[in-house]
Amino acid sequence: MDHTAQEQVVPASAAVVPVGAPAGGLSPAEIDALAAAGDYAAISKPHLSPILGRYYERNWSHGEGHTLYDSAGRGFLDFACGIATTSLGHHHPAVTAAIKDQADKLLHICNALGYLEPVGRLAAMLADACPDPLDTVFFGNSGSEAVEAALKLARRVTGRPGIIAFRGAFHGRTFGAASITSSSINYRLGYEPLLPSVYLTPFPNVYRYFGDDEESATAGAMGALQTLLAHEIPASSVAAIIIEPIQGEGGFSPAPAGFLRELRALCDTHGILLIADEIQSGMGRTGKMWAFEHADIVPDVICVAKALANGLPIGAIVTRRELQERWGVGAHGTTFGGNPVSCAAGVAVMRTIEEQGLVANAAARGDQLQKGLRALMAQDDRIGDVRGRGLMVGVELVKDRATRDPDTATSEALIGACADQGLLVLNCGTHHNVIRFLPPIDATAEEIATGLELFAAGLNAVPRTKA
Ligand SMILES: Cc1ncc(COP(=O)(O)O)c(C=O)c1O
Repeated sequence: MDHTAQEQVVPASAAVVPVGAPAGGLSPAEIDALAAAGDYAAISKPHLSPILGRYYERNWSHGEGHTLYDSAGRGFLDFACGIATTSLGHHHPAVTAAIKDQADKLLHICNALGYLEPVGRLAAMLADACPDPLDTVFFGNSGSEAVEAALKLARRVTGRPGIIAFRGAFHGRTFGAASITSSSINYRLGYEPLLPSVYLTPFPNVYRYFGDDEESATAGAMGALQTLLAHEIPASSVAAIIIEPIQGEGGFSPAPAGFLRELRALCDTHGILLIADEIQSGMGRTGKMWAFEHADIVPDVICVAKALANGLPIGAIVTRRELQERWGVGAHGTTFGGNPVSCAAGVAVMRTIEEQGLVANAAARGDQLQKGLRALMAQDDRIGDVRGRGLMVGVELVKDRATRDPDTATSEALIGACADQGLLVLNCGTHHNVIRFLPPIDATAEEIATGLELFAAGLNAVPRTKA
């Protein structure tokens, strides 16, 4: 097997045992020779931290459009998009031009020193892309930083300590974000004490926990939340509830629209801020600009990152102005956050999405993808569920459709088999048994059809684990 899931669970002992010293250094001449041979793994392994799990043991060279090339020159149809980040594909002409242009002008000043055109312009475009009254943007460098900013704002502005998050969520790796993350125990193991006054409650996972219909999932999860508020933390002490409208790393589970509406109402009743983590699901991916729009709600805070600059580091929160005024000057800050090169790329991304109607394209191509995957599900009982919205689609693999026992082994083998066929897809879920499709949002109908063919071939290449 040539890949390792990002969320790979390690035994408790591994978290505290020091990692051994690298086998030995390479001379500059040896590095040159390995680079010429395209063996970037051999260059990387002696000195790069082994902490990062890798999906593939492959060497990547460059990207063009929707194809990622390895160092031997083989092209792969990229339906992973750097985990929902290069949503416009690779070497996008408008994004690349914007980056080059800004790099020629100015790389950095730190936004605390004054004002820069691409930063202000991107803030205006983001505000315009968000529903009223969300009109004020704070930029950071990553998804985790956006989440940290949202949590700090919520506590400072409400004067309350409590944060409620959903079981199975992934919000990032920094301490605050890790404290509200539970998609894998490996993200929490050995890091306690985490942030205090954090409470986890069940996510309305229609397929896994609450039966097959959205109404019972909504009732079950709302009931659990009400119980939490009745027994563990009063609503009057809760600063914020944070939710991914579609759980990402946790298994590509959309929250039912009815649940999001009830959550909004509960937050309104008790003066709780509703934070939507749109880091994976935002920027048009789900066939709406923001996934919460499928439920016709407006959160108080939106967290954005990943696809915002098509691969350059950036993160942002968007709120109504009054909240950030009450947050207070100097209450938060950053050196690199909202750097002009990332912001210039972000401006090009926002323009391209708008000008090419890519939100509608994601909806149409997503329907095509889900239809094709459902047809495969009708022929292959290893697929227990196909779900998602737009071009954020999950395929859950099970050992048995009746018991829904997660089939981790098939999923792990399948992402390798798909890569062998020339298709990059990733997996997710607490048991790593959900294949996630994250094609570029400007994918064509032909590319989706090719992706489906390659996926079917990958599935056929994986031996069945039962009779
Ligand atoms: C929903 C969600 N929130 C937060 C994050 C953290 O983002 P980053 O890795 O940029 O810190 C991720 C990353 O996968 C994510 O999917």
